[in-house]
Amino acid sequence: MIAVLNREDIEEGTSKGIEAAGTFLFAVKKDDQIFLYRNRCPHLGTPLEWQEDRFLDADGALIQCSTHGALFQIEDGYCLQGPCKGKSLQAIPFIEDNGVIMVDESKIAPPPVQ
Ligand code: FES
Repeated sequence: MIAVLNREDIEEGTSKGIEAAGTFLFAVKKDDQIFLYRNRCPHLGTPLEWQEDRFLDADGALIQCSTHGALFQIEDGYCLQGPCKGKSLQAIPFIEDNGVIMVDESKIAPPPVQ
């Protein structure tokens, strides 16, 4: 397991980009819960953020892809609106120990290049 984020490093209602083991992830903190996803839009596979650490829409209610504006639920990554409607972001399983978020490296490895 590798540590990817300290719970205190992300403010309530915000998001944060993370690089871990050569893979790009991002976290959102909402209602004091942490949600972790691969930073890859299910539409074209691009990174999602507008600017560094900016993955949410204007009112912080949904995750928004900066390329074509797809909107995803924070809680489960499900796409509500946009070209990938009905698909989901890839949630990354993690454990939390004393406020440190840790993931299994083998679960976040980028898919092999064909
Ligand atoms: S690449 Fe994300 S909506 Fe098109």
